[in-house]
Amino acid sequence: MAQDLSPAQRTLTVGVLGAGTVGSQVIRLLTEQADDFAARSGARLEITGVAVRDVNAPRDFAVPQDLLTDDATAVATGNDLVIELIGGIEPARTLILAAFKAGASVITGNKALIAAHGPELYTAAAAAGTDFYYEAAVAGAIPVVYALRESMAGDRVTSVLGIVNGTTNYILDEMSTKGLSFETALATAQELGYAEADPTADVDGLDAAAKAAIIASLAFHTRVGLDDVSVEGIRKVTADDIREAHASGCEFKLLAIAQRREDEHAQGVSVRVHPALVPNDHPLASVHGAYNAVLVEAESAGRLMFYGQGAGGAPTASAVLSDVVAAAAHRVHGGQAPRESSYASLPVLGPEAAVTRYQIQLRSDDAVGSLAAMASVFAENGVSINSVRQSAYVTSDGSQDQAVVTFVTHPAPVFHLDAAVEGLRVSDRVAEVVSIQRVEGE
Ligand code: NDP
Ligand code: HSE
Repeated sequence: MAQDLSPAQRTLTVGVLGAGTVGSQVIRLLTEQADDFAARSGARLEITGVAVRDVNAPRDFAVPQDLLTDDATAVATGNDLVIELIGGIEPARTLILAAFKAGASVITGNKALIAAHGPELYTAAAAAGTDFYYEAAVAGAIPVVYALRESMAGDRVTSVLGIVNGTTNYILDEMSTKGLSFETALATAQELGYAEADPTADVDGLDAAAKAAIIASLAFHTRVGLDDVSVEGIRKVTADDIREAHASGCEFKLLAIAQRREDEHAQGVSVRVHPALVPNDHPLASVHGAYNAVLVEAESAGRLMFYGQGAGGAPTASAVLSDVVAAAAHRVHGGQAPRESSYASLPVLGPEAAVTRYQIQLRSDDAVGSLAAMASVFAENGVSINSVRQSAYVTSDGSQDQAVVTFVTHPAPVFHLDAAVEGLRVSDRVAEVVSIQRVEGE
Protein backbone atom coordinates (compact mmCIF):
# COMPACT_ATOMS: atom_id res chain seq x y z
CA MET A 1 0.00 0.00 0.00
CA ALA A 2 1.03 3.64 -0.39
CA GLN A 3 3.16 4.95 2.43
CA ASP A 4 2.54 8.30 4.15
CA LEU A 5 5.21 10.15 2.18
CA SER A 6 5.46 13.07 -0.20
CA PRO A 7 4.07 12.26 -3.66
CA ALA A 8 7.56 11.93 -5.11
CA GLN A 9 8.49 9.33 -2.52
CA ARG A 10 5.34 7.20 -2.60
CA THR A 11 5.57 3.92 -4.45
CA LEU A 12 2.90 1.53 -5.63
CA THR A 13 3.93 -1.89 -6.83
CA VAL A 14 2.60 -3.20 -10.16
CA GLY A 15 2.36 -6.80 -11.33
CA VAL A 16 1.77 -7.51 -15.01
CA LEU A 17 0.21 -10.82 -16.08
CA GLY A 18 1.10 -11.36 -19.75
CA ALA A 19 3.68 -9.63 -21.91
CA GLY A 20 2.32 -10.20 -25.41
CA THR A 21 0.96 -7.65 -27.90
CA VAL A 22 -0.63 -5.44 -25.25
CA GLY A 23 1.34 -6.32 -22.11
CA SER A 24 4.68 -5.51 -23.77
CA GLN A 25 3.44 -2.01 -24.74
CA VAL A 26 2.08 -1.39 -21.24
CA ILE A 27 5.47 -2.29 -19.76
CA ARG A 28 7.31 -0.12 -22.30
CA LEU A 29 5.16 2.94 -21.67
CA LEU A 30 5.14 2.54 -17.88
CA THR A 31 8.93 2.40 -18.00
CA GLU A 32 9.60 5.14 -20.57
CA GLN A 33 7.10 7.61 -19.08
CA ALA A 34 7.60 6.75 -15.41
CA ASP A 35 7.87 10.40 -14.28
CA ASP A 36 4.61 11.36 -16.00
CA PHE A 37 2.76 8.41 -14.47
CA ALA A 38 4.14 9.31 -11.01
CA ALA A 39 2.96 12.91 -11.38
CA ARG A 40 -0.49 11.91 -12.65
CA SER A 41 -1.21 9.21 -10.09
CA GLY A 42 0.67 10.62 -7.06
CA ALA A 43 3.03 7.68 -6.66
CA ARG A 44 5.86 6.02 -8.54
CA LEU A 45 4.60 2.86 -10.23
CA GLU A 46 7.20 0.14 -9.83
CA ILE A 47 6.82 -3.03 -11.88
CA THR A 48 7.93 -5.88 -9.62
CA GLY A 49 7.05 -8.86 -11.80
CA VAL A 50 5.87 -9.85 -15.27
CA ALA A 51 4.26 -13.28 -15.55
CA VAL A 52 4.49 -15.09 -18.88
CA ARG A 53 4.02 -18.64 -20.07
CA ASP A 54 7.60 -19.12 -21.23
CA VAL A 55 10.30 -16.94 -19.64
CA ASN A 56 12.83 -18.03 -22.26
CA ALA A 57 10.71 -17.22 -25.32
CA PRO A 58 12.39 -14.67 -27.60
CA ARG A 59 10.81 -11.23 -27.19
CA ASP A 60 11.23 -8.28 -29.50
CA PHE A 61 10.86 -5.72 -26.72
CA ALA A 62 12.84 -4.93 -23.61
CA VAL A 63 11.36 -6.57 -20.53
CA PRO A 64 14.14 -6.83 -17.97
CA GLN A 65 14.85 -10.56 -17.72
CA ASP A 66 14.88 -10.41 -13.91
CA LEU A 67 11.21 -9.28 -13.91
CA LEU A 68 10.02 -12.25 -16.00
CA THR A 69 8.56 -15.18 -14.12
CA ASP A 70 6.28 -18.14 -14.74
CA ASP A 71 4.87 -17.80 -11.21
CA ALA A 72 1.73 -15.85 -12.12
CA THR A 73 0.13 -16.42 -8.71
CA ALA A 74 3.02 -14.64 -6.98
CA VAL A 75 2.64 -11.67 -9.33
CA ALA A 76 -1.16 -11.62 -8.83
CA THR A 77 -0.96 -11.73 -5.03
CA GLY A 78 2.12 -9.62 -4.35
CA ASN A 79 1.29 -6.17 -5.73
CA ASP A 80 -0.87 -3.06 -5.18
CA LEU A 81 -1.97 -3.00 -8.83
CA VAL A 82 -2.36 -6.09 -11.00
CA ILE A 83 -2.71 -5.74 -14.78
CA GLU A 84 -4.15 -8.89 -16.38
CA LEU A 85 -3.24 -9.20 -20.09
CA ILE A 86 -3.17 -12.96 -20.54
CA GLY A 87 -6.65 -13.23 -22.05
CA GLY A 88 -9.15 -16.13 -22.01
CA ILE A 89 -11.04 -17.49 -19.03
CA GLU A 90 -8.50 -19.54 -17.10
CA PRO A 91 -6.08 -18.94 -15.48
CA ALA A 92 -7.04 -15.27 -15.85
CA ARG A 93 -10.17 -15.60 -13.69
CA THR A 94 -8.44 -17.44 -10.84
CA LEU A 95 -5.52 -15.01 -10.89
CA ILE A 96 -7.78 -11.94 -10.78
CA LEU A 97 -9.83 -13.38 -7.91
CA ALA A 98 -6.57 -14.10 -6.06
CA ALA A 99 -5.40 -10.55 -6.71
CA PHE A 100 -8.59 -9.08 -5.23
CA LYS A 101 -8.31 -11.40 -2.22
CA ALA A 102 -4.78 -10.12 -1.68
CA GLY A 103 -6.08 -6.51 -1.70
CA ALA A 104 -4.93 -5.48 -5.18
CA SER A 105 -6.71 -3.19 -7.63
CA VAL A 106 -7.16 -5.01 -10.95
CA ILE A 107 -7.00 -3.70 -14.50
CA THR A 108 -7.80 -5.99 -17.42
CA GLY A 109 -8.57 -5.91 -21.15
CA ASN A 110 -10.17 -9.34 -21.09
CA LYS A 111 -13.61 -9.00 -22.71
CA ALA A 112 -14.19 -12.77 -22.89
CA LEU A 113 -13.71 -13.09 -19.12
CA ILE A 114 -15.90 -10.09 -18.27
CA ALA A 115 -18.72 -11.23 -20.56
CA ALA A 116 -18.63 -14.65 -18.88
CA HIS A 117 -17.84 -13.74 -15.25
CA GLY A 118 -18.27 -9.97 -14.85
CA PRO A 119 -20.60 -10.10 -11.81
CA GLU A 120 -18.25 -12.45 -9.94
CA LEU A 121 -15.31 -10.11 -10.56
CA TYR A 122 -17.29 -7.02 -9.50
CA THR A 123 -18.35 -8.82 -6.30
CA ALA A 124 -14.75 -9.77 -5.52
CA ALA A 125 -13.60 -6.17 -6.05
CA ALA A 126 -16.35 -4.86 -3.76
CA ALA A 127 -15.48 -7.41 -1.08
CA ALA A 128 -11.83 -6.38 -1.29
CA GLY A 129 -12.68 -2.66 -1.34
CA THR A 130 -10.44 -2.19 -4.38
CA ASP A 131 -10.91 -1.10 -7.97
CA PHE A 132 -11.88 -3.16 -11.02
CA TYR A 133 -11.18 -1.43 -14.34
CA TYR A 134 -11.48 -2.73 -17.91
CA GLU A 135 -11.43 0.14 -20.42
CA ALA A 136 -9.37 -1.89 -22.91
CA ALA A 137 -11.97 -4.66 -23.07
CA VAL A 138 -14.20 -2.74 -25.51
CA ALA A 139 -12.94 -1.04 -28.68
CA GLY A 140 -9.25 -0.77 -27.75
CA ALA A 141 -8.15 2.84 -27.40
CA ILE A 142 -11.67 4.30 -27.56
CA PRO A 143 -12.84 5.36 -24.07
CA VAL A 144 -16.29 3.82 -24.45
CA VAL A 145 -16.38 1.96 -21.11
CA TYR A 146 -15.65 5.21 -19.27
CA ALA A 147 -18.24 7.00 -21.38
CA LEU A 148 -20.99 4.49 -20.65
CA ARG A 149 -20.07 3.81 -17.02
CA GLU A 150 -19.36 7.37 -15.91
CA SER A 151 -20.09 10.05 -18.53
CA MET A 152 -23.59 8.69 -19.29
CA ALA A 153 -24.52 8.04 -15.64
CA GLY A 154 -26.81 11.08 -15.76
CA ASP A 155 -28.72 9.99 -18.83
CA ARG A 156 -30.87 7.13 -20.17
CA VAL A 157 -29.17 5.32 -23.02
CA THR A 158 -31.64 4.04 -25.61
CA SER A 159 -29.32 2.32 -28.07
CA VAL A 160 -25.71 1.59 -28.90
CA LEU A 161 -24.64 0.70 -32.43
CA GLY A 162 -21.01 -0.12 -32.98
CA ILE A 163 -18.26 -1.54 -35.11
CA VAL A 164 -16.26 -3.13 -32.29
CA ASN A 165 -14.11 -5.71 -34.06
CA GLY A 166 -11.19 -4.41 -36.10
CA THR A 167 -10.40 -7.70 -37.87
CA THR A 168 -13.87 -8.13 -39.38
CA ASN A 169 -14.13 -4.48 -40.33
CA TYR A 170 -10.80 -4.80 -42.12
CA ILE A 171 -11.99 -7.92 -44.00
CA LEU A 172 -15.32 -6.37 -45.05
CA ASP A 173 -13.58 -3.15 -46.07
CA GLU A 174 -11.10 -5.07 -48.26
CA MET A 175 -13.99 -6.96 -49.86
CA SER A 176 -15.83 -3.68 -50.44
CA THR A 177 -12.99 -1.48 -51.72
CA LYS A 178 -10.84 -4.07 -53.54
CA GLY A 179 -13.43 -6.67 -54.50
CA LEU A 180 -11.54 -9.41 -52.62
CA SER A 181 -13.25 -12.66 -51.61
CA PHE A 182 -13.78 -13.35 -47.90
CA GLU A 183 -10.99 -15.97 -47.93
CA THR A 184 -8.44 -13.65 -49.57
CA ALA A 185 -9.30 -10.73 -47.28
CA LEU A 186 -9.01 -12.99 -44.23
CA ALA A 187 -5.59 -14.22 -45.37
CA THR A 188 -4.43 -10.58 -45.74
CA ALA A 189 -5.78 -9.76 -42.27
CA GLN A 190 -3.78 -12.67 -40.86
CA GLU A 191 -0.61 -11.59 -42.71
CA LEU A 192 -0.95 -8.09 -41.27
CA GLY A 193 -1.46 -9.46 -37.77
CA TYR A 194 -5.03 -8.17 -37.33
CA ALA A 195 -6.56 -11.64 -37.20
CA GLU A 196 -5.30 -14.46 -35.02
CA ALA A 197 -3.93 -17.67 -36.54
CA ASP A 198 -7.28 -19.08 -35.35
CA PRO A 199 -9.61 -16.25 -36.38
CA THR A 200 -12.78 -17.91 -35.05
CA ALA A 201 -13.55 -15.41 -32.27
CA ASP A 202 -13.28 -12.52 -34.71
CA VAL A 203 -14.96 -13.82 -37.88
CA ASP A 204 -17.72 -15.72 -36.08
CA GLY A 205 -18.64 -12.61 -34.12
CA LEU A 206 -17.78 -13.93 -30.65
CA ASP A 207 -15.27 -11.17 -29.85
CA ALA A 208 -17.85 -8.55 -30.86
CA ALA A 209 -20.54 -10.40 -28.88
CA ALA A 210 -18.47 -10.27 -25.68
CA LYS A 211 -18.02 -6.53 -26.22
CA ALA A 212 -21.75 -6.14 -26.95
CA ALA A 213 -22.58 -7.87 -23.65
CA ILE A 214 -20.30 -5.47 -21.76
CA ILE A 215 -21.71 -2.45 -23.59
CA ALA A 216 -25.32 -3.49 -22.90
CA SER A 217 -24.62 -4.20 -19.22
CA LEU A 218 -23.18 -0.72 -18.77
CA ALA A 219 -25.68 1.12 -20.97
CA PHE A 220 -28.81 -0.43 -19.48
CA HIS A 221 -27.71 -1.15 -15.86
CA THR A 222 -28.63 -4.77 -16.45
CA ARG A 223 -26.57 -7.96 -16.34
CA VAL A 224 -26.06 -9.13 -19.91
CA GLY A 225 -23.80 -12.14 -20.53
CA LEU A 226 -22.40 -13.68 -23.69
CA ASP A 227 -25.28 -16.19 -23.82
CA ASP A 228 -27.79 -13.33 -24.01
CA VAL A 229 -26.32 -12.05 -27.28
CA SER A 230 -27.57 -13.47 -30.58
CA VAL A 231 -24.54 -13.80 -32.82
CA GLU A 232 -23.90 -14.21 -36.53
CA GLY A 233 -20.43 -13.67 -37.98
CA ILE A 234 -19.23 -12.72 -41.45
CA ARG A 235 -18.20 -16.07 -42.93
CA LYS A 236 -21.27 -16.18 -45.19
CA VAL A 237 -20.85 -12.66 -46.65
CA THR A 238 -20.10 -13.03 -50.36
CA ALA A 239 -18.73 -10.71 -53.04
CA ASP A 240 -22.29 -10.71 -54.48
CA ASP A 241 -23.68 -9.46 -51.16
CA ILE A 242 -21.18 -6.60 -51.22
CA ARG A 243 -22.09 -5.73 -54.83
CA GLU A 244 -25.79 -5.70 -53.90
CA ALA A 245 -25.02 -3.49 -50.90
CA HIS A 246 -23.32 -1.00 -53.20
CA ALA A 247 -26.28 -1.12 -55.60
CA SER A 248 -28.48 -0.16 -52.65
CA GLY A 249 -26.20 2.73 -51.63
CA CYS A 250 -24.90 0.85 -48.59
CA GLU A 251 -21.80 -0.74 -47.05
CA PHE A 252 -21.75 -4.12 -45.34
CA LYS A 253 -20.61 -3.93 -41.68
CA LEU A 254 -20.47 -6.33 -38.73
CA LEU A 255 -22.44 -4.47 -36.08
CA ALA A 256 -22.86 -4.86 -32.34
CA ILE A 257 -26.32 -3.59 -31.44
CA ALA A 258 -27.81 -2.99 -28.02
CA GLN A 259 -31.34 -1.56 -27.91
CA ARG A 260 -33.76 -0.75 -25.12
CA ARG A 261 -37.38 -1.49 -26.09
CA GLU A 262 -40.26 0.05 -24.20
CA ASP A 263 -43.27 -0.22 -26.49
CA GLU A 264 -46.55 -2.08 -26.64
CA HIS A 265 -44.87 -5.20 -28.10
CA ALA A 266 -41.83 -5.64 -25.86
CA GLN A 267 -40.05 -4.24 -22.84
CA GLY A 268 -36.42 -5.04 -22.19
CA VAL A 269 -33.09 -5.05 -23.95
CA SER A 270 -32.12 -6.65 -27.23
CA VAL A 271 -28.44 -7.37 -27.85
CA ARG A 272 -27.12 -8.82 -31.07
CA VAL A 273 -24.15 -9.04 -33.41
CA HIS A 274 -24.62 -9.59 -37.14
CA PRO A 275 -23.63 -8.23 -40.53
CA ALA A 276 -25.97 -5.57 -41.87
CA LEU A 277 -26.27 -3.02 -44.63
CA VAL A 278 -25.45 0.51 -43.46
CA PRO A 279 -26.52 3.41 -45.72
CA ASN A 280 -23.57 5.35 -47.16
CA ASP A 281 -24.58 8.57 -45.42
CA HIS A 282 -24.55 6.95 -41.98
CA PRO A 283 -21.39 7.66 -39.91
CA LEU A 284 -20.59 3.95 -39.47
CA ALA A 285 -20.46 3.41 -43.26
CA SER A 286 -17.23 5.40 -43.48
CA VAL A 287 -15.36 3.48 -40.76
CA HIS A 288 -12.59 1.83 -42.77
CA GLY A 289 -9.80 -0.68 -42.18
CA ALA A 290 -9.33 -2.00 -38.66
CA TYR A 291 -10.90 1.08 -37.06
CA ASN A 292 -13.79 0.88 -34.58
CA ALA A 293 -16.65 3.28 -33.92
CA VAL A 294 -19.48 3.33 -31.41
CA LEU A 295 -22.64 5.39 -31.73
CA VAL A 296 -24.54 5.97 -28.49
CA GLU A 297 -28.08 7.40 -28.42
CA ALA A 298 -29.37 8.76 -25.13
CA GLU A 299 -32.53 10.58 -24.16
CA SER A 300 -30.93 13.86 -23.10
CA ALA A 301 -27.55 13.83 -24.81
CA GLY A 302 -28.89 12.71 -28.17
CA ARG A 303 -26.35 11.08 -30.44
CA LEU A 304 -22.68 10.63 -29.44
CA MET A 305 -20.06 9.13 -31.75
CA PHE A 306 -16.77 7.54 -30.61
CA TYR A 307 -14.15 6.61 -33.20
CA GLY A 308 -10.58 5.28 -33.11
CA GLN A 309 -8.24 2.33 -33.07
CA GLY A 310 -9.96 -0.71 -31.64
CA ALA A 311 -6.95 -3.01 -31.48
CA GLY A 312 -3.17 -3.15 -31.46
CA GLY A 313 -0.52 -3.02 -28.77
CA ALA A 314 0.02 0.70 -28.20
CA PRO A 315 -3.61 1.84 -28.71
CA THR A 316 -4.85 -0.80 -26.28
CA ALA A 317 -2.05 0.02 -23.83
CA SER A 318 -3.32 3.61 -23.82
CA ALA A 319 -6.68 2.39 -22.46
CA VAL A 320 -5.02 0.06 -19.94
CA LEU A 321 -2.80 2.85 -18.63
CA SER A 322 -5.70 5.27 -18.17
CA ASP A 323 -7.15 2.67 -15.80
CA VAL A 324 -3.77 2.23 -14.08
CA VAL A 325 -3.57 5.98 -13.37
CA ALA A 326 -7.15 6.05 -12.01
CA ALA A 327 -6.63 3.01 -9.77
CA ALA A 328 -3.27 4.30 -8.53
CA ALA A 329 -4.68 7.75 -7.77
CA HIS A 330 -7.48 6.13 -5.74
CA ARG A 331 -4.93 4.25 -3.65
CA VAL A 332 -3.02 7.46 -3.01
CA HIS A 333 -5.80 10.00 -2.61
CA GLY A 334 -8.83 7.83 -1.78
CA GLY A 335 -11.90 7.17 -3.91
CA GLN A 336 -13.14 4.14 -5.80
CA ALA A 337 -13.97 2.95 -9.28
CA PRO A 338 -17.74 2.65 -9.91
CA ARG A 339 -19.21 -0.62 -8.63
CA GLU A 340 -21.41 -2.83 -10.77
CA SER A 341 -24.69 -1.10 -11.64
CA SER A 342 -27.34 -3.71 -12.48
CA TYR A 343 -30.27 -2.22 -10.58
CA ALA A 344 -32.53 -1.93 -13.66
CA SER A 345 -32.49 -5.73 -14.25
CA LEU A 346 -34.34 -5.35 -17.54
CA PRO A 347 -35.48 -8.54 -19.25
CA VAL A 348 -33.15 -9.64 -22.03
CA LEU A 349 -35.27 -10.17 -25.14
CA GLY A 350 -34.82 -12.89 -27.77
CA PRO A 351 -33.65 -12.09 -31.32
CA GLU A 352 -37.26 -12.12 -32.63
CA ALA A 353 -38.00 -9.00 -30.55
CA ALA A 354 -35.23 -6.93 -32.15
CA VAL A 355 -36.32 -3.98 -34.24
CA THR A 356 -34.56 -3.66 -37.56
CA ARG A 357 -35.16 -2.96 -41.26
CA TYR A 358 -35.00 -5.62 -43.97
CA GLN A 359 -33.89 -5.38 -47.56
CA ILE A 360 -35.81 -8.17 -49.33
CA GLN A 361 -34.97 -9.06 -52.89
CA LEU A 362 -37.59 -11.07 -54.81
CA ARG A 363 -37.91 -12.55 -58.27
CA SER A 364 -41.52 -12.00 -59.28
CA ASP A 365 -43.91 -11.90 -62.22
CA ASP A 366 -43.56 -8.61 -64.08
CA ALA A 367 -47.30 -8.28 -64.59
CA VAL A 368 -50.28 -6.10 -63.72
CA GLY A 369 -51.00 -6.23 -59.97
CA SER A 370 -47.76 -8.01 -58.90
CA LEU A 371 -46.37 -5.03 -57.03
CA ALA A 372 -49.73 -4.36 -55.38
CA ALA A 373 -50.02 -8.01 -54.31
CA MET A 374 -46.55 -7.97 -52.76
CA ALA A 375 -47.15 -4.61 -51.06
CA SER A 376 -50.32 -5.97 -49.47
CA VAL A 377 -48.33 -8.81 -47.87
CA PHE A 378 -46.17 -6.22 -46.11
CA ALA A 379 -49.28 -4.31 -44.98
CA GLU A 380 -51.03 -7.45 -43.70
CA ASN A 381 -48.00 -8.13 -41.48
CA GLY A 382 -47.73 -4.62 -40.09
CA VAL A 383 -44.56 -3.74 -42.03
CA SER A 384 -44.19 -0.38 -43.71
CA ILE A 385 -42.23 -0.14 -46.99
CA ASN A 386 -39.55 2.54 -47.27
CA SER A 387 -38.45 2.04 -50.89
CA VAL A 388 -38.90 -0.26 -53.89
CA ARG A 389 -36.53 -0.79 -56.79
CA GLN A 390 -37.10 -2.97 -59.84
CA SER A 391 -34.68 -4.31 -62.42
CA ALA A 392 -35.22 -6.56 -65.40
CA TYR A 393 -34.68 -10.31 -65.02
CA VAL A 394 -33.78 -12.14 -68.20
CA THR A 395 -34.07 -15.94 -68.11
CA SER A 396 -31.66 -18.23 -69.96
CA ASP A 397 -34.21 -18.60 -72.79
CA GLY A 398 -34.33 -14.80 -73.17
CA SER A 399 -37.83 -14.26 -71.78
CA GLN A 400 -38.44 -11.10 -69.76
CA ASP A 401 -41.68 -11.81 -67.97
CA GLN A 402 -40.06 -11.65 -64.54
CA ALA A 403 -38.35 -8.85 -62.60
CA VAL A 404 -36.09 -8.55 -59.57
CA VAL A 405 -37.86 -6.33 -57.04
CA THR A 406 -35.94 -5.00 -54.01
CA PHE A 407 -37.95 -3.74 -51.04
CA VAL A 408 -36.42 -1.86 -48.12
CA THR A 409 -38.72 -1.62 -45.11
CA HIS A 410 -39.06 0.86 -42.30
CA PRO A 411 -38.01 -0.44 -38.85
CA ALA A 412 -40.24 -3.24 -37.54
CA PRO A 413 -39.94 -6.10 -35.04
CA VAL A 414 -38.17 -9.13 -36.52
CA PHE A 415 -41.21 -11.37 -35.98
CA HIS A 416 -43.31 -9.04 -38.16
CA LEU A 417 -40.60 -8.88 -40.82
CA ASP A 418 -40.20 -12.67 -40.84
CA ALA A 419 -43.96 -13.13 -41.15
CA ALA A 420 -43.95 -10.78 -44.15
CA VAL A 421 -41.12 -12.78 -45.76
CA GLU A 422 -43.10 -16.02 -45.23
CA GLY A 423 -46.17 -14.41 -46.83
CA LEU A 424 -44.09 -13.37 -49.83
CA ARG A 425 -42.52 -16.80 -50.13
CA VAL A 426 -45.92 -18.43 -50.61
CA SER A 427 -47.37 -15.65 -52.79
CA ASP A 428 -48.27 -16.86 -56.30
CA ARG A 429 -46.69 -13.66 -57.65
CA VAL A 430 -43.25 -14.47 -56.17
CA ALA A 431 -41.02 -17.00 -57.94
CA GLU A 432 -38.14 -16.77 -55.45
CA VAL A 433 -37.01 -14.89 -52.34
CA VAL A 434 -33.51 -14.09 -53.62
CA SER A 435 -32.01 -12.53 -50.47
CA ILE A 436 -32.83 -10.97 -47.13
CA GLN A 437 -30.44 -8.51 -45.50
CA ARG A 438 -30.82 -6.47 -42.34
CA VAL A 439 -30.39 -2.72 -42.71
CA GLU A 440 -29.22 -0.72 -39.69
CA GLY A 441 -28.65 2.97 -39.08
CA GLU A 442 -30.77 5.90 -40.21
P1 NDP B 1 -1.06 -12.17 -26.49
O1 NDP B 1 -1.48 -13.54 -26.87
O2 NDP B 1 -0.24 -11.37 -27.43
O3 NDP B 1 -0.26 -12.24 -25.10
C1 NDP B 1 -0.65 -13.06 -24.04
C2 NDP B 1 0.44 -13.06 -22.98
O4 NDP B 1 -0.01 -13.84 -21.87
C3 NDP B 1 1.78 -13.66 -23.43
O5 NDP B 1 2.85 -12.91 -22.93
C4 NDP B 1 1.78 -15.06 -22.80
O6 NDP B 1 3.06 -15.53 -22.43
C5 NDP B 1 1.00 -14.79 -21.53
N1 NDP B 1 0.35 -15.99 -21.02
C6 NDP B 1 -0.48 -16.83 -21.68
N2 NDP B 1 -0.88 -17.81 -20.85
C7 NDP B 1 -0.29 -17.58 -19.67
C8 NDP B 1 -0.32 -18.25 -18.42
N3 NDP B 1 -1.02 -19.37 -18.22
N4 NDP B 1 0.39 -17.73 -17.40
C9 NDP B 1 1.13 -16.60 -17.58
N5 NDP B 1 1.20 -15.92 -18.74
C10 NDP B 1 0.49 -16.42 -19.76
O7 NDP B 1 -2.41 -11.39 -26.08
P2 NDP B 1 -2.76 -9.85 -26.32
O8 NDP B 1 -1.70 -9.02 -25.71
O9 NDP B 1 -3.15 -9.64 -27.73
O10 NDP B 1 -4.12 -9.72 -25.47
C11 NDP B 1 -4.11 -9.63 -24.06
C12 NDP B 1 -5.51 -9.26 -23.56
O11 NDP B 1 -5.86 -7.99 -24.09
C13 NDP B 1 -6.62 -10.21 -24.04
O12 NDP B 1 -7.59 -10.32 -23.01
C14 NDP B 1 -7.20 -9.52 -25.25
O13 NDP B 1 -8.56 -9.87 -25.49
C15 NDP B 1 -7.09 -8.07 -24.80
N6 NDP B 1 -7.09 -7.13 -25.91
C16 NDP B 1 -6.19 -7.29 -26.94
C17 NDP B 1 -6.17 -6.39 -27.98
C18 NDP B 1 -5.21 -6.53 -29.11
O14 NDP B 1 -5.26 -5.72 -30.05
N7 NDP B 1 -4.30 -7.50 -29.07
C19 NDP B 1 -7.12 -5.26 -28.03
C20 NDP B 1 -7.98 -5.16 -26.89
C21 NDP B 1 -7.96 -6.08 -25.87
P3 NDP B 1 4.18 -15.88 -23.55
O15 NDP B 1 4.63 -14.52 -24.05
O16 NDP B 1 5.25 -16.58 -22.81
O17 NDP B 1 3.50 -16.69 -24.58
N1 HSE C 1 -9.34 -9.18 -32.28
C1 HSE C 1 -9.88 -7.94 -31.80
C2 HSE C 1 -10.26 -7.08 -33.01
C3 HSE C 1 -8.85 -7.24 -30.93
O1 HSE C 1 -9.94 -7.42 -34.15
O2 HSE C 1 -10.92 -6.07 -32.81
C4 HSE C 1 -9.44 -6.14 -30.10
O3 HSE C 1 -10.31 -6.63 -29.14
